[in-house]
Amino acid sequence: MHLLIRRSVEDVASFVADLVVDRVRQGLVVLGVATGGSPLPTYAELVRRHRAGTVDLRRCHLVLLDEYVGLPPGHPASYRHTIDEVLRRPLGIPVDHLHTPEVHGPDLVAACERFEALIGELGGVGLQLLGIGRNGHIGFNEPGTPWTTRTHVVTLAPSTRRDNARFFDHPDDVPSKAVTQGIATILDAREVVLIATGATKADVLRRLVTADGDRDLPAAALAEHRSTSIVVDAEAAPPRPLAS
Ligand code: GLP
Repeated sequence: MHLLIRRSVEDVASFVADLVVDRVRQGLVVLGVATGGSPLPTYAELVRRHRAGTVDLRRCHLVLLDEYVGLPPGHPASYRHTIDEVLRRPLGIPVDHLHTPEVHGPDLVAACERFEALIGELGGVGLQLLGIGRNGHIGFNEPGTPWTTRTHVVTLAPSTRRDNARFFDHPDDVPSKAVTQGIATILDAREVVLIATGATKADVLRRLVTADGDRDLPAAALAEHRSTSIVVDAEAAPPRPLAS
C-alpha cells in the first residue's frame, strides 16, 4: 500500500482524475466505482475534463461496488441512480456499460453469483476506486467480514446506517441490507485507489496504518493487494506513513 497525501480535497480529486485518465489512455476498460461522498469530487473533475474535451471515457464499463436492498429502482439514494447521474450520463457512457448488483429479484444469492460471473466476463476490474467507512468498511464489507468473501448480501452496521442517513430524507429510510462485492472480489481488481478526505476519516486511517492484518478493519485487507494507493487530504492524513 502506498500512501499519497495531497493538500486539499480538490488536489485529491485532480490527482485521482489524472490517474484514471492515464489508465484509460493505457487501455483501461473496466473501471470499478464507489459511491459515498469521497469520490464525488473526482467524478466531478472527470466530468469537467470530459466537457472540456480533454478526456473520453465513453468506451469504459463502470462496475459498481455495492447497492442497497429494498429501495425502489431509480430511488435518488440508490447507488445505481447516483452513479448514473454523477458519472455515466455526464461522461456519455452507454447505459449498457453500467453494471450494478441486482437487488430486486427473488433470489439475491443467485444474483450475487451472476454479478461475479459478469465481472469475469468483462475481463475483471482494471482500476477500482474505493472509499472507506469510519469503521473501516470497504464497499459494504463491515468489520469481521472474512477476507475470502465474494459478492454477498450484508446487514449494515448501525453506525454505517447512521453515517449514510445524510443521503435520505429520514434516518429510518436507510435500508438495513445491501449487496456488496466481497473483500476477495475487491482484491481481484488489478489496481485499487482508496480515497479518504476530511477529519472524520483521520481515526480510521490511523488505525489502517497500524492495522497489521486486523480482521476488524476490512480495509486492512488492501495490504495484501499488489497495487493499492491510499490518497488522502491533509485533514485525513495519518500521523506516519504506511508500510508497503
Ligand atoms: C458507503 C459505501 C462505501 C463508502 C462509504 C464511505 O457506506 N458503501 O463504499 O466507502 O460509504 O462514504 P463516504 O465517502 O461518504 O464517507
